[in-house]
Amino acid sequence: ALALVAPRDLAGRRVVVSAGGTREPVDPVRFLGNRSSGRQGVALAAAAARRGADVVLVGANLAVPAPAGVELRTVETAAELDSAVRAAALNADVVVMAAAVADFRPVVVAEHKIKKTAGEPAPILLERTADVLSALVSERRPGQLVVGFAAETGDDDGDVADHGRAKAIRKGADLLVVNAVGDGRGFGTPDNDVTILDGTGTVIGTAAGSKAQVADAVWDAVVARLTPDA
Ligand code: CTP
Ligand code: CA
Repeated sequence: ALALVAPRDLAGRRVVVSAGGTREPVDPVRFLGNRSSGRQGVALAAAAARRGADVVLVGANLAVPAPAGVELRTVETAAELDSAVRAAALNADVVVMAAAVADFRPVVVAEHKIKKTAGEPAPILLERTADVLSALVSERRPGQLVVGFAAETGDDDGDVADHGRAKAIRKGADLLVVNAVGDGRGFGTPDNDVTILDGTGTVIGTAAGSKAQVADAVWDAVVARLTPDA
């Protein structure tokens, strides 16, 4: 018979999904940000809830509403996302880092709005933010799965697959979902086209279609790797 309801294969599992894009303040009215809408992360949270999981969604500047039935924790900056995700991860079975996290932030945040002055503007000095995914991998509990996302373009150093494989090995996450961007793909668009790699950089699957379909493919890969309940 045709299954008319979603599988409840995440029932009893606690999952954390980060989504959206962080914003790093420059002054009280300005920030350094990115184009992530949060749609893929929100689709992942919705799919996990549909499949029976207890879901914490750590949302950074989401352009779309959080789905019903998930616990939303709102953050703004990479530092806030780092604390919120790592705190939620302490009792999670799966953590999925779908958020676009700033790599750099201004070293100082101007207390007052920066004014136009005569002459050249002052440069904005940047410093590195913490790598949340790497911290999650090193803090991973036994049996916990950590999933990263990577939006890649080809460049002189290699194509999307080369960059994805190198990043999977470098990050050491259990799964890395690689998304080809550029040419109107990826950011802000309803559809997605991804390759799922394991921690050794081996391709374990591909998925294309709506962000909901991609989300279900990611959870299928996660479910296949979850250890059964004791
Ligand atoms: N990520 C993170 N913390 C950061 C930056 C990224 O946790 N400060 C996570 C993202 O949420 C994503 C994964 O790391 O799951 C890969 O992000 P990406 O930007 O592709 O990787 P980087 O290591 O930042 O490499 P680069 O931007 O130089 O390609
Ligand atoms: Ca980055």
